[in-house]
Amino acid sequence: MAQLLHHPLASHILTHLRDKTTKPATFRTLAHQIGIMLALEATRDLPTGVKTIETPLEQIDGTVLEETLVVVPILRAGLGMLQPYTDLFPSVSVGYVGLERDHDTAVARSYYCKLPSVEGCRVLCIDPMLATGGSAVQAVQILKDYGATDIRMVSIVSAPEGVETFESAHPDVPVITAAIDRELNDQSYILPGLGDFGDRLFDT
Ligand code: PRP
Ligand code: URA
Repeated sequence: MAQLLHHPLASHILTHLRDKTTKPATFRTLAHQIGIMLALEATRDLPTGVKTIETPLEQIDGTVLEETLVVVPILRAGLGMLQPYTDLFPSVSVGYVGLERDHDTAVARSYYCKLPSVEGCRVLCIDPMLATGGSAVQAVQILKDYGATDIRMVSIVSAPEGVETFESAHPDVPVITAAIDRELNDQSYILPGLGDFGDRLFDT
């Protein structure tokens, strides 16, 4: 079962992302803002360790992150969710998987891949739209083939059909999402959705 981000601010941001009158500059800001909330949700179970430090007053056993994080946006729309990870996690490494859906068949074609070392890392695959699930399934397979074992799939809007497809292909990879919408239309766009995320983000 997908892990749904529950927060009034997330619902507020989503409404403005969905609004067709929202212009690219605002759309980018909103994608960044909800991206921060999703990044925190997707990392709330990161392992931590103890680090003994001296405050100006006394010694304490503090808490520090133990696992290195790798974030992998699916190009191109995933780029709109990347900055929260580089802002929040000091030692994050960034990989890229380039996938593009064919307009007629909705089947994703891979055109680029560049990944850092993933050994011992939590790997977060980020893509705002999980529609048929084809792109997410392919991207996560690429990450597994590369050696990743601790993976999360993070999206902003998902279709129930896509979540089901993804979970059957990768039952070991949790999906974290801000919304599970009603259905896909005949062109495999999410309803009510928000349209083509990449086009709205980059004004194409
Ligand atoms: C969009 C989106 C996902 C994919 C989701 O990308 O960002 O990657 O579609 O659809 P799926 O679940 O049916 O595979 P698109 O292929 O339009 O490319 P873009 O990011 O370059 O706009
Ligand atoms: N990709 C998008 O950008 N939007 C959809 O609704 C489906 C796939």
